[in-house]
Amino acid sequence: MALTFAGMQNTRLSGPTPARLDPVDHSVESTDPKDRLAVALDLPDTHHALALVDRLEGSCRWFKVGMELYYASGSSFVETLRNRGFQIFLDLKLHDIPNTVAGAVRSVTNAGASLLTVHAGGGRAMLAAAAEAASAPHAPRLLAVTVLTSMDAAQLTAVGVTASPAEQVLRLARLAQSAGIDGIVCSPEEVGTLRTELAPETMLVIPGIRPAGSAAGDQKRIATAAEAITRGASMLVVGRPITRAADPAAAARVILQEIAESQSTLKK
Ligand code: C5P
Repeated sequence: MALTFAGMQNTRLSGPTPARLDPVDHSVESTDPKDRLAVALDLPDTHHALALVDRLEGSCRWFKVGMELYYASGSSFVETLRNRGFQIFLDLKLHDIPNTVAGAVRSVTNAGASLLTVHAGGGRAMLAAAAEAASAPHAPRLLAVTVLTSMDAAQLTAVGVTASPAEQVLRLARLAQSAGIDGIVCSPEEVGTLRTELAPETMLVIPGIRPAGSAAGDQKRIATAAEAITRGASMLVVGRPITRAADPAAAARVILQEIAESQSTLKK
């Protein structure tokens, strides 16, 4: 299967106006594994984040800014990264009433992130309001988070969801798509099913990536980069296996190599 994001090479900023990513087009052959890896900057402040970005410059193109860093640094840090030519995945996992989520989408639009997450569990009205707000020029593309990769069946049951993680992910992914959300975040365990069940151009973004033999930490539904790409992932999100490595750039290069090898295996 060919997987890429059409036009992604053209989306880096040269000026202050952020460019929205072109629609995903899986019919175009991916050429650069760097467009399929987002490094999660789960760090407490801009000082630590910029130190890591400096070490990864040249190896990585996409950075994921999540709640920890965004709450500490705000949109200015996203703009800093954009001005350095990086693509930003803003992982705020918005989940509130429709009016509030739509306002939040509008508020972050000018920061220049290319991707922004909302929780699919917020329901159809919330997802539709977010999608409507994201139809504005320069707004980020939206990804719906289905079931967190740190959740297993027992944890789902404890919050009243009797469906299996796989069933719940598929249900939420379909709901999000029908409400107009562009892409889906799920674990490596569900990506194969979603690649088959959803429209072929759907962007599937996959955290829970762990190199063979490395620590899972709080993640429950995990796989290697090669497994996730082979099953149909569009983009991988990797945090601690890179950010806590003794040599983060070397760790990133190993994962990029895995992505490249999986792409060429898929082409055969
Ligand atoms: O360090 P690690 O590789 O586990 O980081 C995974 C990243 O992906 C974290 O920033 C986490 O917030 C994010 N994420 C996730 N599971 C989801 C959605 C996002 O782990 N379902």
